[in-house]
Amino acid sequence: MSTFAERLLAWFDQAGRHDLPWQHPRSPYRVWLAEVMLQQTQVRTVIPYYQRFTEALPSLPALALAPLDQVLALWSGLGYYSRARNLHRAAGICMATHGGDLPCDFTALGALPGIGRSTAGAILAQAHGLPYPILDGNVRRVLCRLHGIDGWPGCAATQQTLWALAQSHLPAARLADYTQAQMDLGASVCTRSKPRCGECPLRDQCLAYRQQRTADLPARRPKPALPQRETQMLLVQDQQQRLLLTRRPPIGIWPSLWSLPQVNDRSEAERWLSAIVNIGATPQQLGEPLLHTFSHFRLRITPLHYAMVQSKSSAGDNPDLQWRSLDSLDQIGLPAPVRRLISRLAA
Ligand code: ADE
Repeated sequence: MSTFAERLLAWFDQAGRHDLPWQHPRSPYRVWLAEVMLQQTQVRTVIPYYQRFTEALPSLPALALAPLDQVLALWSGLGYYSRARNLHRAAGICMATHGGDLPCDFTALGALPGIGRSTAGAILAQAHGLPYPILDGNVRRVLCRLHGIDGWPGCAATQQTLWALAQSHLPAARLADYTQAQMDLGASVCTRSKPRCGECPLRDQCLAYRQQRTADLPARRPKPALPQRETQMLLVQDQQQRLLLTRRPPIGIWPSLWSLPQVNDRSEAERWLSAIVNIGATPQQLGEPLLHTFSHFRLRITPLHYAMVQSKSSAGDNPDLQWRSLDSLDQIGLPAPVRRLISRLAA
């Protein structure tokens, strides 16, 4: 079976992009500029900016000598302007300490402002044919799927795995094409949604494809755990089995809906209830607590059942309190988890 790189390169010869402006001519300066522009921006958007920029400032010394304002003007519309500032600053450093060229040493290159590990690799591979891996969003997606990597690619452990895999796939030759090929595959075939697996040269090696998990990989950023709040809901029934409902306040969760009385603990329950009813027997917890998720927190609701209470005559005065028979509850709006708790009474 041919290797990852062989298949990718054969595919690239047929279907890859060969007419990108940074490929003709390919110089360290032109590759660097392209990689920095492409860090946060799509190829289609970058191309006209790239052409304008390289016409105005065709070499690293030209960039270093240009006023920052001119660089920013040429960048204007691409966004993320710290990229342009770093580019200008790095050009100055190259003039002062690297003889007016980008260094071709990985460590020195990565020490320049705006050049991270993947950008350094992309420059060395494309401009000098050196065997350095890249790991941009496209490559992460391809590798996560190919190898069935479950972890979120943003976390350090997954990154480490992915860098090791990217290193292990490097071919001995054609590093520039290989680097471009990975980005092209990610951009045109191994897309985030609706990947074109039918056109993929790596399909029969791809774990995600074989396990039908392309939609699930790479894993999405894990959502932060929601804070959890606790409450008790009271299911208070009188001797005719009617249930006591309260109307919720007009602001907050479930505004103005009818609901069960809600308290923080048992003693608050008893204080609140004693104004309205004579409590009969001791209350019973009605099954397991119920978890309900709101957008910003989870509510753990413990249901407490007070059976056979006696309504006090004063209870009728409050318009936000109601005794309702269970079979009349379909006619009013109740929050879904409240309805679910009430249905436990029938069970
Ligand atoms: N993204 C980053 N570098 C790229 C390149 N050389 N071609 C296409 N997309 C890229």
